[in-house]
Formats: sequence, structure tokens, C-alpha cells
Amino acid sequence: MSQSHVSWKSRWTFILAATGSAVGLGNIWKFPYITGEYGGGAFVLFYLFCIVLIGLPVMMAEILMGRAGNSDPVHSVLKLAEENKRSKTWSIVGIAGVCAGLMILMFYSVVAGWVMEYMYQSASGAYSGATAEQVGANFKGLTDSFGRQLMWHSIFLLFTLAVVAGGVTKGIGKTVEVLMPILFLFLLVLLGYSFAKGDVAAAANFMWQVDFSKLNQDAMLTAMGHAFFTLSLGMGSIMAYGSYMPKDASISKTAFTVAALDTLIAIIAGMAIFPIVFANGLEPGAGPGLMFVSLPAAFGQMPGGALFGGIFFTLVGIAALSSAISLIEPGIAWMEKSGIHRLAATGALGVLVWLGGLASIHSGEIFDLLDNITAKIMLPLGGILIAVFVSWLMKQDTVRQQVDISDGLYTVWLWLLRLVAPIAVSIVLIAGLVEWLGK
Ligand code: PHE
Repeated sequence: MSQSHVSWKSRWTFILAATGSAVGLGNIWKFPYITGEYGGGAFVLFYLFCIVLIGLPVMMAEILMGRAGNSDPVHSVLKLAEENKRSKTWSIVGIAGVCAGLMILMFYSVVAGWVMEYMYQSASGAYSGATAEQVGANFKGLTDSFGRQLMWHSIFLLFTLAVVAGGVTKGIGKTVEVLMPILFLFLLVLLGYSFAKGDVAAAANFMWQVDFSKLNQDAMLTAMGHAFFTLSLGMGSIMAYGSYMPKDASISKTAFTVAALDTLIAIIAGMAIFPIVFANGLEPGAGPGLMFVSLPAAFGQMPGGALFGGIFFTLVGIAALSSAISLIEPGIAWMEKSGIHRLAATGALGVLVWLGGLASIHSGEIFDLLDNITAKIMLPLGGILIAVFVSWLMKQDTVRQQVDISDGLYTVWLWLLRLVAPIAVSIVLIAGLVEWLGK
């Protein structure tokens, strides 16, 4: 660990990188379809509740650990454990996080691969005039084809590896500085298009009409797991990125900005997708196929559909790329700090994730297992451990120094981490797991 730890160019680069990590397939692919599956309003409300009361406080704690640890997630936790005279076993939080990131990327890259095929097909007008059945058949053709998925998964992964191989400042920093503004711009264009052409009232009604009878334990577990997933919490991405943050940047303001942008973008994505889906008489609860069947079919029926469909899938591709790099970075940073050259680390983890991707392409069960174990178990568990570590086990004056909020807010934050997050997450985790395993 001789070389000094690198740092972002400015606070803004951290915000862009962390927002790039947070905003991804989770916001644009997963959030709308799970909202559809769990019936809208009540689910969205519970999800927002999890973001504010658990996600935001845990994000501050995770950034804090990264910045105070000033290293990759594993060495950061180890260093903080030693400094605070706690067991070295805590480094498991970092190690499990690295594993979770790689496991997520093993199915994430496959979905991002589908997005790449759609980017190409939408722009070439393949969906113009196509019915939902035709697009559905095409999607089934894609997900049944080992070769097509393998090709796109490999291409997407290569892009990801090329960025991280370039390092933190030149690779990740530069990439997010260019891509994130494009993403915001495209999103606004699409929102405008959707408001002009879609059925906004039906969409708003669906997303905001609260019916608590639909909020069962599985829905709550999914919403909570998704709050961690969408904010990239509990697995070291935010810790790794936080370690590159300048010492004088405000943890509370940056965390708030990232969480707010992520939530806003999930809602905008919903408000861009559902109006188009409803306007074309399609179903909201179309499962993982919502974005890949209903939406392209809807675009295909609309004027300018090839252009806007192309813009849409490019946007999703950008969002996926900026998240994928943060999924693999903790592992690469760890290997690099352990003395392995960055390029070698990138190659080794790239092969591992590539193989894992093959497994998820080969078997839908493996795909679902990787998704469920990470989002519903590993991230919430990692999140509680981070909350407990920072709020109970670190020296409180060190923690207080790092967080620039008023004493009143600090107390609220501390108790959210000490009690609310661990208890709420444990209850939802256990109740949801019982229901999920019983299915
Ligand atoms: N937050 C990303 C998304 O919503 C996924 C992700 C999870 C990225 C965990 C990094 C770490 O798509």
C-alpha cells in the first residue's frame, strides 16, 4: 500500500460518478417493472420511505467509511476496524461487497447486452409498426439465443473493462463527465416526448394511487432491496468512490444530491415509460419485459418512434455503463492495493464476470438467483453492517468531524443508523425472506 490514494478532480466528479453508479438499469428497467408488478402507488410510497429513512443515512455512512478509510473497501474497513480497536473480521463487509458487485455484474451485463441490441434495432427502425406480439417474439428470440446474448454481453463487458482499465481519474472520471450530461439531456427529451404523446393521466394515476392492500411482505422486501440496489449501497461501490472524494467536500450535501437525482430519475423514467405504454393500450405489469416488449412496441406505433426509441435505449445503455464500472471497481481497487497491476486485475475480474454472465445466459434460474441474493439479502445486510459500524463502533468524535450538519440533524442521522435502519431492515428482511422462500 505504498502508492498514495488517487482523488477525483473535484466534488462534482464524485457527484457525477456516484450518480452514474446509482442511476442505472435499476432506475429505468427494474423500477418501472417492479412498480408494475406490485401494483403502483403503495409500492412507490414505501420505496420512497426506504430511500429517505434508510438509504440516505446509509449512503452518508458508506461515503464516510470510504473517505476515512482512504482505500479500497476491504482495506478501508480493515483500517477503520484497527483504528477503532474492533475485530478484523469486519473486513468481511468489504469482501462480501466485492463479491456482491461481481455477482450483480454477472446478470447486469447480460441485461445491458439486451439494451445494446435494442439500441441498434430501434435506431435502424426494426420496430416501426411492429405489434407487441412481434416485439415480444423478438425479445423471446433474443433471450432464447445463447449466441446473440453472448455477443452483446461480451461487447458491453469490454466497454466496461476499457473504462475501468483507464483508472479512476482518466477512465471513470472522464467517462462520467462526458456521459452523465448526455444522459440528463436525453431523459428530458424523452420526458417531453412522453408528455406530448403519451397518456400522462393514466400513468400518474397508476404510479401515485395508493392502495395499501397490495403491499404484502414480498413487495416490502422488494422495495427495500431496491432502495439499496438503486442507490448502489451496501457493497462498497459508494465506499470506493467516497475514498476518492476530496477531504473538504461535504458528505451530507453530496449524498443528498446523489440520492435526490437517483430518485428523480427513477420517477422521471416511470413518468416517461408508463404514459407511452398506457397510450398504446398495453399492460404496466409486464415484468422484466416491460422495457423490452411494451415500450418498443409503443414506440413503433408512434411518430418519430425510431428516433425516440433509439434515444431511449442509448440513454439506458449509458446509465448501465456508468453503473457497471462502479460494480467492478471495488474488486479492482482491492486487487490493485494488494499489489496487482490494474490491467491484470481488470483482466482477471473481467474473465470471472464474463463466465458468470455465460451462466446467467445459460440458465434463467442462475440469473434470478444472482439478482435475488444480491438485492434482497447481500446489499441490505451490508447496509445494516455499515450503519452499525459507523454509528456504534467508530469513535464518535471522528464521525462527528466528518459530517457537516447541525447537531440536531446529526442526532437524527445517528439514531436512524443506530436503530431505525438495523431494525427496519431486519424485520423486512426476515419477513420477506420467509415469504419469498415459501413461494
Ligand atoms: N444502482 C445501480 C442501478 O440502479 C446498480 C448498482 C448496484 C450499481 C450496486 C452499483 C452497485 O442500476
